[in-house]
Formats: sequence, C-alpha cells, structure tokens
Amino acid sequence: MFGLDIGGTGIKGGPVDVSLGTLAGERIRVMTPRPATPEAVAVVCGAVVKQAGYKGVLGATYPGVVKGGRAMTAANVDGEWIGTDIEALLAATTGCDVVAVNDADAAGLAEVRFGAGKGQPGVVVVVTFGTGIGTGVFLNGELLPNTELGHLEIKGGDYEDQAADSAREREDLSWEDWAQHRVSTYLSHLEALLWPDLFILGGGVSKKSDKWLSYVKCKTPVVTAALQNSAGIIGAAMYAREQRS
Ligand code: BGC
Repeated sequence: MFGLDIGGTGIKGGPVDVSLGTLAGERIRVMTPRPATPEAVAVVCGAVVKQAGYKGVLGATYPGVVKGGRAMTAANVDGEWIGTDIEALLAATTGCDVVAVNDADAAGLAEVRFGAGKGQPGVVVVVTFGTGIGTGVFLNGELLPNTELGHLEIKGGDYEDQAADSAREREDLSWEDWAQHRVSTYLSHLEALLWPDLFILGGGVSKKSDKWLSYVKCKTPVVTAALQNSAGIIGAAMYAREQRS
C-alpha cells in the first residue's frame, strides 16, 4: 500500500506496511506547489508516486471534509478544491486506485491503531495543530469521519484562528502562552462536549512537546502523537486498505 499526505507546505509519500503501521520504504517529500490548485497538486502527486515506482491502491489525505471521494470544504487550501473529485483527479496523474481521506482522520487512525492510542478503549480524540486544527474522533478504535471540531466557535469566533500553530507563529506567542491559554481553552471546550478518555495531540508541534505539553491544562489525560511525521502517510494507506477490502 502507498500513502500520500497532502499538506499546505509539503506533499509526502511512501510505501506502507499496513499490518505493522510502519513505512515500508523511502519517504519522499516535495514542496506543495503555489498556488495549490487541484491540478498543480495532482501533477506533483503523480511525480511522487512515479519516483517511488508504485502501482496499486493508494490512500491520499486532504486537509478538509471528504465525502464520497470529493472535497467538500477548503479552509486552508485553494477554494478551487471544493467539489473536486479528489480520487478521480489523483487516479489520472498517479495511475493508482485512489482513496481520499481527511488529513486528521488519517493521522488519527494511525495513532489510534499503532501509536499513542494503541489499545486505548473508549473515546479518543486526536487533535492536530498546524496551519489549521484537525480532529479525529474514535470509539474503541473506530473512526467517526469528518468531524470538523477545529472550527468550534469559542469567544465569538472560529477558534482555529486562535489556537492553531499558525496563530502561535502569527501572533508570536510564547510556547507557554499558546499552550496554557489557547490550547487549554480549546481542549476544555472539546472535553465539555465529548468527555473523551484520551486526547492525542499531533501535527508538527508534537515534535517539540517538551516546550509546551506541561502547560496544557484540562481534565482529560493528554499525550502527544507517537508517529509524528509519518502518521498521515500511514493512516491514509490504512484507510485505503479498509475501504478496498
Ligand atoms: C480543516 C480540517 C483539517 C484541518 C487540518 C481545518 O481547517 O477544516 O478538515 O483536518 O484544517 O488540516
């Protein structure tokens, strides 16, 4: 199986051993083209898959809602994506049988089955902090797809704009300030609505958790993602396998 993780800054791909939840070969990373229109991104995805020499079923993440293989929203990507049949578009450039999945759902699936949530019963909420905030909600390891809880309205606005990692950078917040005020406020709202058994915090910031994790305050146990950079690739391939078997 092969996974492609399509993000705002980079497109990453690699072969995946879906029974072990690990990369099964070299991980390829290229810059996301600008503007990140569907056609431009699809051409780059085609080049990544060609470089890897892969043919077969392929899972691809998309940073928005995916229904029936189509992009339904485009919060942090080119608006041209809305309505695009992601699976058909990428099938044309990669020559593969493509299954598309929301990026946080894919990363969450990998974390829940093989990473920080392995063996954890009950409700697990995976939150990815990056350009936006993505969420993956799981009950006993099963995904409830396309939860868009990064867009919870808190303090009168879409809280992704306050608590995403991009907000920390844009406002030049200290790690402490971001984690203690923005992340904790966000997680407290989420837990008041879902009462999860575990939060798994992922995205690029999970690599630097020693700088901020100790400042996060909420009632629910909190851990950081274990698979980090590869969670999206691995989860996309896992999701594709589940859809095609
Ligand atoms: C999108 C989600 C996505 C998240 C992380 C949000 O703005 O609405 O679908 O999972 O960003 O990329």
